[in-house]
Amino acid sequence: MNKKGVKKILLIFGTRPEAIKLAPVYRLLNQHPHFETEVCVTAQHREMLDQVLSFFQITPNYDLNVMKKGQGLVSLSSAILDGLKEVFDQAKPDAVFVQGDTTTSTIAALAAFYSGIKVCHVEAGLRTLNRFSPYPEEINRQVTARLADLHFAPTIAAKNNLLDEGIEPDKIWVTGNTVIDALLQGIELLADYKSPELASLKAQIDPTKNVILVTGHRRESFGDGFKQICLALKKIAQRTDVQIIYPVHLNPKVQEPVYSLLGDEENITLMKPLGYPEFIWLMQQSFLILTDSGGIQEEAPSLGKPVLVMRNHTERTEALEAGTAQLVGTNSGLITQSVNRLLNDDTLYREMSAKENPFGDGSASKQILECLNEKEFSDPK
Ligand code: UD1
Ligand code: UDP
Repeated sequence: MNKKGVKKILLIFGTRPEAIKLAPVYRLLNQHPHFETEVCVTAQHREMLDQVLSFFQITPNYDLNVMKKGQGLVSLSSAILDGLKEVFDQAKPDAVFVQGDTTTSTIAALAAFYSGIKVCHVEAGLRTLNRFSPYPEEINRQVTARLADLHFAPTIAAKNNLLDEGIEPDKIWVTGNTVIDALLQGIELLADYKSPELASLKAQIDPTKNVILVTGHRRESFGDGFKQICLALKKIAQRTDVQIIYPVHLNPKVQEPVYSLLGDEENITLMKPLGYPEFIWLMQQSFLILTDSGGIQEEAPSLGKPVLVMRNHTERTEALEAGTAQLVGTNSGLITQSVNRLLNDDTLYREMSAKENPFGDGSASKQILECLNEKEFSDPK
């Protein structure tokens, strides 16, 4: 039974980026006397989720443990939907929090809606308006917007996207992106942080070279896209002034091509996904970042690192407008050319390294809490 006047909030997440982006929200909710907060992880990711839980010291109250190696979206979705019924029966939340555009977030929003529980969506309103890019995230976000009661949009552009879809203005709050809160907390904790993983990472970096940090995992790039990316990395690695560091996502559809095509290349260091503090440290050491990640596009401007985005569309258009990111798709020629330009042109490099971040200032979770305090969660709709 909930204490009188205290609202029960259940945070539901399943993948690495959701965990990173909800960690600062959890931290504030957990300290707040008006809320009783619990965490349910679906474990859509297992190892990559656990790395984040451990760094931010989050112990889930519920763990659906749904990940199966190489699992498809349909079986993943049905496992989450099924598992959440029992969790809601036990937890009896007044509201759930979901984040972003993963299958976990959309299915959790659907399950909550079916159960008559309010849905708060963090990082609402991102759009490419291309249903296959990114796939399935663009449709996941649109569906979640239909299901949500409160929409925490990171930017004005995201708010405008929601208004265009007919969401009522008083249900939308522009807060900045909580990933910046997480990043700033991570940087602070990193000052005294020591781990065998960080020591081993430091030992693998050649300080005389320009580090090119690579990540990639998008479903729409499986197959030819990843072959092209690997081909580009092979070409770039022929330069003696670079070291390519690539923590490889655990999806077998990524691991297989990357390890088979790049496993023995000079100047390319492949490694397991890094814990968040190790990854922040590595971003700080990098010359530039080559990625298809959403979260990294948002973090990099705070660190003054140019980002080349290996996608055909991005919903983070603010970074393109600010000039800190550039879309390079998955064509090996364009990727190679764009990396070479940044390595050879100091003026361009300086222009793309601006430290102003259009995605937030580190106060997003505080703003979300302020909004929650103003809203009433107990009335049935
Ligand atoms: C998921 C999200 C994507 C998000 C990304 C962040 C969906 C549809 N996709 O994509 O939006 O950007 O996470 O990384 O929600 N695996 C492991 N261990 C892990 C994690 C993954 O072995 O810790 C392997 C498993 O074989 C798993 C596969 O990777 O089946 C794919 O994981 P999944 O969550 O379905 O897709 P991602 O590509 O990670
Ligand atoms: N990240 C990490 N370790 C890694 C790679 C990325 O901690 O080896 C962090 C990164 O800083 C960012 C988030 O994971 O906060 C991005 O996750 P991902 O690229 O998997 O998902 P996306 O943001 O594309 O949904």
